[in-house]
Amino acid sequence: MFESIRPVPASGHKSPVNVIGIFKDKKLDEAGKALDKSSGGAVSAAIARGECTGESGRIVEAHAPGKNDRRIIIVGLGKRETFTVGTLRAVAAAVGRRLAVTRDAGVHFDLEGTLKAAKKAKPGAAGRAIGEGLGLLGWKSWRFKGTAAGNGENGPPKRTSLTVSIAGVEFAQGLARGLALAASANRCRDLSETPPNIATTSWIADQARRLARETGLSCRVFEGKELEKERLVGLINVGKASENKPCMVRLEYTPKGGGKKHKPVVLVGKTMTYDTGGLSLKINNGMVGMKRDKDGGCAVFGAMHAIATVVKPDRPVVALLAVAENSISDEAYRPDDVLTYRNGVTVEITNTDAEGRLVLADALIWACEKENPEYIVDLATLTGGVVTALGSTFAGMFCEDDRLRERLDRAMQTSGERWWRLPMDPEYRDMMKSPIADILNSNPNRKAHPIQGAAFLSYFVRPEIPWAHIDIAGVHASDSDSGCFVKGPTGWGTRLLADLLDQ
Ligand code: BES
Ligand code: MN
Ligand code: ZN
Repeated sequence: MFESIRPVPASGHKSPVNVIGIFKDKKLDEAGKALDKSSGGAVSAAIARGECTGESGRIVEAHAPGKNDRRIIIVGLGKRETFTVGTLRAVAAAVGRRLAVTRDAGVHFDLEGTLKAAKKAKPGAAGRAIGEGLGLLGWKSWRFKGTAAGNGENGPPKRTSLTVSIAGVEFAQGLARGLALAASANRCRDLSETPPNIATTSWIADQARRLARETGLSCRVFEGKELEKERLVGLINVGKASENKPCMVRLEYTPKGGGKKHKPVVLVGKTMTYDTGGLSLKINNGMVGMKRDKDGGCAVFGAMHAIATVVKPDRPVVALLAVAENSISDEAYRPDDVLTYRNGVTVEITNTDAEGRLVLADALIWACEKENPEYIVDLATLTGGVVTALGSTFAGMFCEDDRLRERLDRAMQTSGERWWRLPMDPEYRDMMKSPIADILNSNPNRKAHPIQGAAFLSYFVRPEIPWAHIDIAGVHASDSDSGCFVKGPTGWGTRLLADLLDQ
């Protein structure tokens, strides 16, 4: 939506557009009153108009004619009682949408007084939410637009570079942080958006190497013979049918001073560059959109960007991306195959479309055996069932460790990326038992699919290691323009994981 968004200091910044907020009770705070005075009553006149309702995100404009002819955006903040920091993300996005239409190059937010009076949002958190709202809204991929895009002219429509300032020191710090976190989420979205003929397995590995070079992470890619040597059988088998060969990408963040005091946190991402279903081929239109079956890995990629550039925690963080393309050929793995994993667990394949859990299993075993993790969190577009259960509002979350769940809960509060806990139980683990091997990759009884996925994965995590599995199949993309998102990838998980490491 914007070419770029840059925070600038508020002092001396003469922005052509000022933004103030108004709750449903339409009371002006001191800043509003001052602006009203200097605009010759234009603000109070605008508020008196019927179109000014104070509803969250509703905008009316006032004009302050004079020397520096300024426009004032008066944006609704909703009811005082229900207002939260999260409201501000959508409010900032509403302002952003207006600015994109009016093609303004600078905006100044003045919400200090209003929010102080509301006592609902700490300045840093409020500034951050505004930065996130604008930064997330600003994302749009034009890379695949060609000569027929735009207004009948050459190339995509021109976009403005926006500068943003905000009143208040803590607000400004928050704003910069919010914009930076949104930039990390937007990196995730760029990967997600890239089509599968370009975002092949080796392309993903290249992106990881580049990220490492850019941000000082270290990167190692396991492929070919190394996969064999390390017996990463899930990746080998799921990836067999594709000419784009599977790999496991390992990114590592090391804090200044080495962070030796702490065990690493391990983040795991399902990174299926395309999911045809394999020989259990997806039917009807079920395949469309499966370029986004890499979004767990993309979220972890974005989180590593945020960890290296924004959060900089004092503990090591390891990311493992299980990268493969689930395709078909005469070399494809098949229903009825049996795989023996490096932890000794044997798996009977009943459905080659339940492939994500097979590659995640490799990464989870690896994490437990090789990384000595403090805890593990995996993100995956694992099941259509979680979309049926929770829609696009909450991700499905599985975690039996109270402390890790509390951490994830705090991260959900600050990031606004919400999850809902689903159950783990021995009965679900029993559902995965196979008559000929240890377990099946999918029970054909069609029950509790998201939980089956988690139950399957639990066979590959050592019970003493805290672990959370988050099924993001419902939240990784948006099917319409709404709030701070445009139709397309949401970057879900990047900010949740960044906040998880910010504790
Ligand atoms: N990648 C899909 C899950 C998915 C579905 C993601 C819709 C995003 C949107 C996954 O690999 C899959 O095919 N899952 C199957 C599992 C089943 C075969 C046990 C599903 O959910 O139908
Ligand atoms: Mn599948
Ligand atoms: Zn899949």
